[in-house]
Amino acid sequence: MGNLKIFSGLASLVLSRKVSDYVGIPLGAASTRMFPDGETHVKIDEDVRGRDVFIIQSTCQPVNDNLMELLIFIDSARRASAERITAVIPYFGYARQDRKDEGRVPITAKLAANMITAAGADRVLTIDLHAAQIQGFFDIPVDNLSAEPVLSRYYSQLNLKDLVLVSPDVGNVKCARVFAQRLGGDLAIIDKRRISGSDIEMENLIGDVEGKTVLMMDDIISTAGTVCSAAKLVRKLGAKRVLVGASHAVLCGPAAERLAEAPIEELVVTDTVPVSSEKHDSIGIVKVLSLSALLGEAIHRIHNNESVSSLFLMYDNNRHQ
Ligand code: R5P
Repeated sequence: MGNLKIFSGLASLVLSRKVSDYVGIPLGAASTRMFPDGETHVKIDEDVRGRDVFIIQSTCQPVNDNLMELLIFIDSARRASAERITAVIPYFGYARQDRKDEGRVPITAKLAANMITAAGADRVLTIDLHAAQIQGFFDIPVDNLSAEPVLSRYYSQLNLKDLVLVSPDVGNVKCARVFAQRLGGDLAIIDKRRISGSDIEMENLIGDVEGKTVLMMDDIISTAGTVCSAAKLVRKLGAKRVLVGASHAVLCGPAAERLAEAPIEELVVTDTVPVSSEKHDSIGIVKVLSLSALLGEAIHRIHNNESVSSLFLMYDNNRHQ
């Protein structure tokens, strides 16, 4: 591991410490500070010449500051002659701006990919990209891990009966199907219509939730409009319990208030995005599962040129033990 260095941006410090503990090396020394005019300055405080450098930074809120810090971090490592730089982006912000769905709009996910590559990243390691095709926005290797094994393992321990996996929109059906196969439940789908960035409309559900335990999985909970409206709908249709799980707890705007009031028994998220303890307490139903071992193992394998996809076989084998 002598050649391996792991650094963290400000957005991912807690997760990065756990990742470096898993890998068994100390987190690299670096400092980020803001100039009085708002510019970001990053200094790597140890030698990285010829090293295999991993920089962990989620591009969560404040999205632009965190993205810029990641770009500057990569540039610092490149100019300090790192041999290879992997941008580890547990939550990839801007991923929902991945296509031109009307005239004169950007594809900002592609722009972010271009900037990360131009800054000098040699590869990217991320988790549950909102759209898997974003991997193709990069001309460098991208490993897109999934939080599914960690979430499935948690839910399988609960031994849930009369389970229905509800996809809160058509785009998430594939994900709900994977959980249904793992946990042995039925599948139901909600017809969602987005009215604005934070408001949505849901009236129809394909499937049956009456008297059932509903487990709803989403990749991102942002304003929580999607999962809270879906929870209300399934309860109206007779579901007896509603559990929600998600990879990325963005939890912005009215999310905390909505979740605190929604008929949701438990919200399980991962630590790709840090949730402050105040927000955690104000929602009251949040459980956080760490993806540090998943990321640490992926970093270990990338560093040693071992297969990353076989990492998931390892989780499959452990699940059945
Ligand atoms: C949408 O396609 C995503 O999978 C999420 O459902 C969505 O981004 C969640 O946003 P919000 O929490 O603001 O409804």
